[in-house]
Amino acid sequence: MLDTPTHISDKSVLVLGIESSCDETAASVVRRYKDGRVEVLSSLVASQNEVHAPYGGVVPEIAARAHMQKIESITASALKDAKITWSDLDAVAATAGPGLIGGVMTGLMAAKGLAVSLNIPLIGINHLEGHALSPRLTQDCPFPYLLLLVSGGHTQLLSVDGVGDFTRLGSTVDDAAGETFDKTAKIMSLGFPGGPALERMAEFGNSKAIKLPRPFKGKPHADFSFSGLKTATARAFDKLGNSCEQGKADLAASFQQTVSDVLCDRTQNAMNMFSATHDAPYRFVVAGGVAANGVIRSALENLCQDNHFTLIAPPLKYCGDNGAMIALVGAERLLLGQTDGLDVKARPRWPLDMGSAQNNPASGFGKKGPKS
Ligand code: KG4
Ligand code: ZN
Repeated sequence: MLDTPTHISDKSVLVLGIESSCDETAASVVRRYKDGRVEVLSSLVASQNEVHAPYGGVVPEIAARAHMQKIESITASALKDAKITWSDLDAVAATAGPGLIGGVMTGLMAAKGLAVSLNIPLIGINHLEGHALSPRLTQDCPFPYLLLLVSGGHTQLLSVDGVGDFTRLGSTVDDAAGETFDKTAKIMSLGFPGGPALERMAEFGNSKAIKLPRPFKGKPHADFSFSGLKTATARAFDKLGNSCEQGKADLAASFQQTVSDVLCDRTQNAMNMFSATHDAPYRFVVAGGVAANGVIRSALENLCQDNHFTLIAPPLKYCGDNGAMIALVGAERLLLGQTDGLDVKARPRWPLDMGSAQNNPASGFGKKGPKS
């Protein structure tokens, strides 16, 4: 770690953030004022949906190649959109993990090249910390808060007590919620990416039509399990046979309602744990791609009201993967003097809470997928 650079302005820092851990190549310029205000000067996301759609899921090699093709132009465009020049930047931040290793390496290497050529600090960011701090891009969201991180690779409940200060209260023991949406949508041939496609289908369905299992519901801890639900939904789909679209819509709505119920049940326990160790006022943040789901958002809103938590959710454009959340964590770390050397490594696995992960390796590393 290097010291805080002395050349940065006394009022604010300007950071370029690069994100490439899965199937979005993203770059953004963020200004973070020392008084806490944040301005997103540009945020560009190049989605790879088209190239992965024929396979019904993200193909790591194809993703890495697509990141390589886009990374240079998207970073240049992010600066152009922000109306700044390279020499205005105070630091460059890039996702260093967890994620698909080829993609992470592509973004991180690009950031290293920029840091060397511009002679500015480099900061390797934990992608999950990007999601965790994402609400701070657009609104006042002071520490501490309870976080539900619910994405394609992760489902975790964490107490967020500061930059880099996380305590895990619960996590999935198998699949992530987003992954369950994606796989279920694939089984039902709803298209890719699965989450939004399934939500659209569910709009026309009856969420009480098909009874599905709610794993861990009623258990006193805050862990999740989704693999049984995925299998049960696949079986229910087989039983539908060649039934009409309404049957499919009912199954989609029932599945979505089940995920929502499970998320709320587990979050209720985490709220009890959080309020036992923190003072009011209580804040609850939901972040990650699945936070874009309308049914889940409104169920969490009701849960917050019942438990006297204030719900804080990033706008939809910052729920999924984006460069702004990476730039923001970079700026926060730069202001704390936490920069990295050029030897910072790309990591396929990188738990947010190293301490509790090491104490409890069985569940500590989140899940078995590519983004664990
Ligand atoms: O945070 P994200 O963009 O990438 C990861 O870090 O994983 O999350 C992507 C995940 C995918 O599984 C996608 O299907 C899911 O978020 N997702 C949704 C919705 N929009 C995205 N799941 C349910 N409903 C949605 N509307
Ligand atoms: Zn993500």
